[in-house]
Amino acid sequence: MDYLKIQGNTKLGGAINISGAKNAALPLIAMTILAKGDLTITNLPEVVDIKTLLKLLGNLGAEYTFENNVLQINTSGVHHTKATYDIVKTMRASILVLGPLLARFGHCEVSLPGGCAIGQRPIDLHLKALEHMGAKITIEAGYVRAEAPSGLVGCDIIFDKITVTGTANIVMAAALARGTTTIINAAREPEVVQLCEILRDSGVQIDGIGTAVLKIKGSDTELVDMKSFSVIPDRIEIGTYLCAAAITKSELTLNNIRLDHLGAIISKLEEMGCTFTKGEDSLTIHPAATIKAVDIVTQEYPGFPTDMQAQFLALATQAEGVSTIEERLFENRFMHVSELQRLGADIKVNGHTATIKGATKLSGTDVMATDLRASSALVLAAMVADGETSIHRIYHLDRGYEKLEKKLEAVGAKIERLKE
Ligand code: UD1
Repeated sequence: MDYLKIQGNTKLGGAINISGAKNAALPLIAMTILAKGDLTITNLPEVVDIKTLLKLLGNLGAEYTFENNVLQINTSGVHHTKATYDIVKTMRASILVLGPLLARFGHCEVSLPGGCAIGQRPIDLHLKALEHMGAKITIEAGYVRAEAPSGLVGCDIIFDKITVTGTANIVMAAALARGTTTIINAAREPEVVQLCEILRDSGVQIDGIGTAVLKIKGSDTELVDMKSFSVIPDRIEIGTYLCAAAITKSELTLNNIRLDHLGAIISKLEEMGCTFTKGEDSLTIHPAATIKAVDIVTQEYPGFPTDMQAQFLALATQAEGVSTIEERLFENRFMHVSELQRLGADIKVNGHTATIKGATKLSGTDVMATDLRASSALVLAAMVADGETSIHRIYHLDRGYEKLEKKLEAVGAKIERLKE
């Protein structure tokens, strides 16, 4: 197993090129099940989660090549409709094939994803919505078995909670349904917006893109003549490197970014004293002389993203004063706290809120990554700790960050990947 060894007290400087967004790419790959013919997707990050979903599509019968961040895929040969446990258990987002498979074939089986490190994460809202569209759903031996022999039928769906992959699943199902589906309380994340835009540009009629009400006119099982496209930049990767600059008090430029996706992240960093020079598709962060404490509540987009909570928590350990971070989306997303405490951080968790006493001296030691974003929070803390930190179980990091240690090393971090 690989681990990262990081020398602390580092300064960074220079520029980093941002990769394509994993969370945009996953639904877009699932969407190719709805496509007619060959399709090319560019700016796809080479991370484990993407390779896992491609392996799943390959098992279903898709043909593809994936090299240099470019995917060439043809799903016309898909004939299996079962997403098996061995793949789904390694990546919850495999549930994204449920909507498109059911819409195209009228039946499918997808293993239940089960729990994960950051909480229970049910899929009840996905299933309820598909039932509204006429699917018969049963759970048998750990599998969701979905059937709609006469096709899915458009209807009004009101999500009780905003769900990102739930919205993506229903948008894809609705694209091949009979009639119009209206999704009320839809997710507005940029990753959902891109999915809708690609479908719209490929001829599917979708109104309300980027709003909480989406109206999708289905094609009655006719496959979509999909246009090739490029994946949007990863706003969470951008946020992570902005926090890396802020915590090490360094100036850093990020290229290949979408400024309009970064509102909540930039605004919190400004509150903490950082300033920015904004280009068309680049952003330079100028660090705060003294990092100020901050209060954060995680919310759905355009609110502050839960996927940036751990990194800001690490940053708050170096702020002057007391910060609070309230996690509203996932019930168990403070696993990184005990690892940050091992480095010397002064953090108390009470229910859904972490209180962080800032300006603490961190000292390097051995820590363990517990989930994807928790891993990057540990990398940030290690870069300002005294001495050397070893971060174990970095397979979490490899699921979602493309070449993290290479990108950080190129801007001055003392970081190396080693084998246990
Ligand atoms: C997606 C992102 C993940 C991010 C999360 C929230 C991907 C691949 N993953 O996850 O990185 O942290 O959005 O921004 O894009 N819920 C239910 N029932 C459901 C579905 C969700 O109760 O059927 C609850 C969840 O437990 C959670 C909340 O709704 O409390 C939001 O979850 P959701 O938006 O669905 O997260 P994911 O799509 O799994």
